Amino acid sequence: MRRFIAAATGLVALTVCALTGHADGIGDPARGLEFAQANCAGCHAILGEETISPNPDSPAFNAVANTPGITRTALSVFLQTPHPTMPNLIVAGEDADNLIAYILSLKAGGQNPPK
Ligand code: HEC
Repeated sequence: MRRFIAAATGLVALTVCALTGHADGIGDPARGLEFAQANCAGCHAILGEETISPNPDSPAFNAVANTPGITRTALSVFLQTPHPTMPNLIVAGEDADNLIAYILSLKAGGQNPPK
């Protein structure tokens, strides 16, 4: 019975994610956007339609999202590695899941495609 409940709960969760447009059900893109506004927007253009970053050396998030080969894994490795130009900026756990869900939502053809 326990097992059945677990399986049923999983199904409900999957259905909810499908309905709300989460690409793979991990992370909340809306909260990822909030996190990006607070932590990344000083340097990066973070919105889908923005292509010019406040700090011109920083790629716009929609450019990052549309780089061939950008996946959840690639982004999560990047976010957990101290970056030469982004010292102390390590994002992990739920914040990383949300942020990655948001960045991946900017992929062309995604839910919030760049214009
Ligand atoms: C102080 C400015 C600054 C802040 C704040 C900042 N970044 Fe960056 N970021 C950069 C710069 C500059 C680069 C380009 C570095 C390079 O290519 O060597 C970069 C590169 C990246 C890349 C890699 C793109 C690629 O294709 O390799 C990602 C992803 C990224 N930043 C995500 C984030 C996220 C997510 C945040 C907020 C949590 C953030 N950055 C906050 C300056 C910043």
